[in-house]
Amino acid sequence: MTDKNITKDAMYDAVAPDDFESMLELDRYNNRSSAFDKIIAATHDHFWDPLDTKYIDFDEPFDMENEPLVPEEMIAALQTDYVSNHLSDPKERTRFINTMVLHNFSSILHGEQGALNLSASLCHVLKDQGAQEYAANQTREEARHVTGFAKYIKTRWGRPLECGTVLKDLLVEIIHAPEVYKKIIGMQMLVEGLAMGAFASFYNNIRDPLGKKLLQLVMTDEAFHHKFGKIWADRTVPKLDPDEHAIIEDWAAHCFQTLLFNLVSPTQQMALYADFGLDGMKVIEEFQKVMTDDVRRENMRESANIFRVLIKTLLNAGIITDRTRAFYGMYVDMEELKLEGDRMVGDDIAEDGIRYLQAINFKDRVVETIRVAAE
Ligand SMILES: [Fe+2]
Ligand SMILES: [Fe+2]
Repeated sequence: MTDKNITKDAMYDAVAPDDFESMLELDRYNNRSSAFDKIIAATHDHFWDPLDTKYIDFDEPFDMENEPLVPEEMIAALQTDYVSNHLSDPKERTRFINTMVLHNFSSILHGEQGALNLSASLCHVLKDQGAQEYAANQTREEARHVTGFAKYIKTRWGRPLECGTVLKDLLVEIIHAPEVYKKIIGMQMLVEGLAMGAFASFYNNIRDPLGKKLLQLVMTDEAFHHKFGKIWADRTVPKLDPDEHAIIEDWAAHCFQTLLFNLVSPTQQMALYADFGLDGMKVIEEFQKVMTDDVRRENMRESANIFRVLIKTLLNAGIITDRTRAFYGMYVDMEELKLEGDRMVGDDIAEDGIRYLQAINFKDRVVETIRVAAE
C-alpha cells in the first residue's frame, strides 16, 4: 500500500491521529530532527503578549464613525458606480468601508482559529519530537493571534461576523484530514501565505495605528510558519514520484481555487449589502462588468497581491508543473514570477517587527542580525 501521507523525510513521518502508542517507541526519542531548531529558538526573540501594554495597547482610540480604516481603493464594491453613488453620504460611506474591513478581519480571526487547531493537530500526527516542538510552538503563537484579533474586533466593532461557508469548509477539511501533506500545503503554504499577503496589504493601508501594530506583531510569527511549509516542500517535492506529485499538485490547486473563490466571490456578502440598502445581485452584476480579465491580471501584477504571493509560494516550492501552469497563468505572468527570487512579501515588515520586539524583550542584550527570509 502507498503511504497516504506521502512522507519523504523522516522528520515528517506521521501516525494516525489516535495512535499515541507509536509516540512511546524508544528509538524515536533518540532520533530528534534538528531541522527546526533555529525557528524554535527564534520564538524567544519575537515573543509578545497581546494582553501586555508593553507590546500593544488596545486602549488607543480611533474615530470609527468618521474615519475610514482603509482607502476606498481597497474596497472592491466601491469601485462600481452603483455602490459609489448609493453611498454618497460620507458617514454611511465610512460605515460601509469599516464594515467591509470587519468582514475581512473576521475571516482573519476564523483563519487564526483554524491555524491554532491545525497546528495542534500536527502535534498528534507528526512523529518527530523536533517537528512536534515546532508545531506546539506554532499552536501557542496562533493562540495569541486569536486573542489579539478577537480583542481588536471587540474594541473597534464589538463582535465578529460569521465565518463564510467556503472558508469554513476548507478549514474543516484540512484540520480533519489525517494526511500530513494536506495539512502542510493547505495551511502552512496556502492559508499562511494568504495571511502574509493580506496582512502586508492591510499593514500598508490601515490608518488605525493599533490595527497596524497588531498586524506587524502577528507577522513576526507568521513569517516563520510559512517557512515551516517551505522546509517541508524543499525536502519532499524533489523526491516525489509522478503519481505523488500529481496528488500534491492537484490538492494545492484545489486549495488555491477555494481561497480565491472565498475572497473574490461577493455572494458571501449579500447580507452586508442589504444592510446598506444595496441590491446584492446588482452589486455582483456591476462588479463583474468592472472586473474584466485585463483588470484582474493588472491587479495581480502588484507584488503585495495575495494571490500572487500564493502562486509564488507554490512555484518556488516546485509544486506547479505544466499540468497546472496554465491554470495559474490566468492570473499572473509565470515567467516574471520565477525571476522574482525567494523573498516573500511581508518579510521586511516582519523583520522590523522582530527588531521592535527584541528591543523590548532584550533591553540589555546585544542581538545578532535578523533574517526570516529563506535560509
Ligand atoms: Fe496566525
Ligand atoms: Fe500562522
